[in-house]
Amino acid sequence: MASQMLRPRTILSTFATSSQRLTPLVNARWSSHSPLGTTLTTRKPVTINTIQSLYRKNEPITVITAHDFPSAHVADHAGMDIILVGDSLAMVAMGMDDTSEVLLDEMILHCKSVARATKGAFTVGDLPMGSYEISPEQALASAIRVIKEGRVKAIKLEGGKDMAPTIAKITGAGIPVLAHIGLTPQRQNALGGFRVQGKTRSSALRFLEDALAVQEAGAFATVVEAVPAEVAELVTKKLSIPTIGIGAGNGCSGQVLVQVDMLGNFPPGRFLPKFVKKFGNVWEESLRAIEQYKDEVKSRAYPAPEHTYPMTKEAFEDFAKAVKDRE
Ligand code: KIV
Repeated sequence: MASQMLRPRTILSTFATSSQRLTPLVNARWSSHSPLGTTLTTRKPVTINTIQSLYRKNEPITVITAHDFPSAHVADHAGMDIILVGDSLAMVAMGMDDTSEVLLDEMILHCKSVARATKGAFTVGDLPMGSYEISPEQALASAIRVIKEGRVKAIKLEGGKDMAPTIAKITGAGIPVLAHIGLTPQRQNALGGFRVQGKTRSSALRFLEDALAVQEAGAFATVVEAVPAEVAELVTKKLSIPTIGIGAGNGCSGQVLVQVDMLGNFPPGRFLPKFVKKFGNVWEESLRAIEQYKDEVKSRAYPAPEHTYPMTKEAFEDFAKAVKDRE
């Protein structure tokens, strides 16, 4: 009896009319606090081997950022190969001005949410500024936290030749590293802002050296940000690991975009880099829906009877009488 009383179906059956009892109620939810997750994904989980196999087949590798459970969930269901918990989190999810402010603990918290949602894609978490530059040992300690606590499968860090010993240290401990070269936003102050890299012979040669160094250090792939397409393509051809381009043209081995940007989930007037294509207009749709909700609450059009829980007329009359008897 006690266990029956805990089951929503049993409770509903007690009060519902016979026609309501015919409704399939097994999955009825009684609260807005129900878990978001489903297990619709049937594909085999992407591993580092899958990524290498895509690269060998010359099939573009698809990467997108996610910063929480819902954004990871939708990206996973869409079949992305890699989901990156980028430190763009700082701006697009936490409202900070740049990535220098976000903390390792905050990155780990968001990695956890993304990892919970991701059943198919390979997950990568960014090491934020300050969590890896002091020494390879510091970097390894941070990387271990991102894997153990954040539950993602690999880490990303910014930097080329100078970061090669750090990448070697982390990969040597069995943690896959996605490198990030070209424009490295965490160093924007040293670069004089968000500037395209590799535009001259010497800068492009430095970029090539960075690419070769991170490859030699054991990175499984490298993000290539804001580099002329021709340079990115030629360097991609010189490497034996995939390049994941962002603002680096179509000659890379794959592409990455920040989800909030490509979904158009931001207010009009926000600056967008040239390379971002808006594949949707989530902001407009969200605004429309929330405004309609507001209007319907104000006019009492919502909630309608179909949004309420049923009770038999007799039970209600019984209750109303009890209320009256108390007066
Ligand atoms: O932080 C981030 O989202 C990134 C991608 C843009 C590559 O580094």
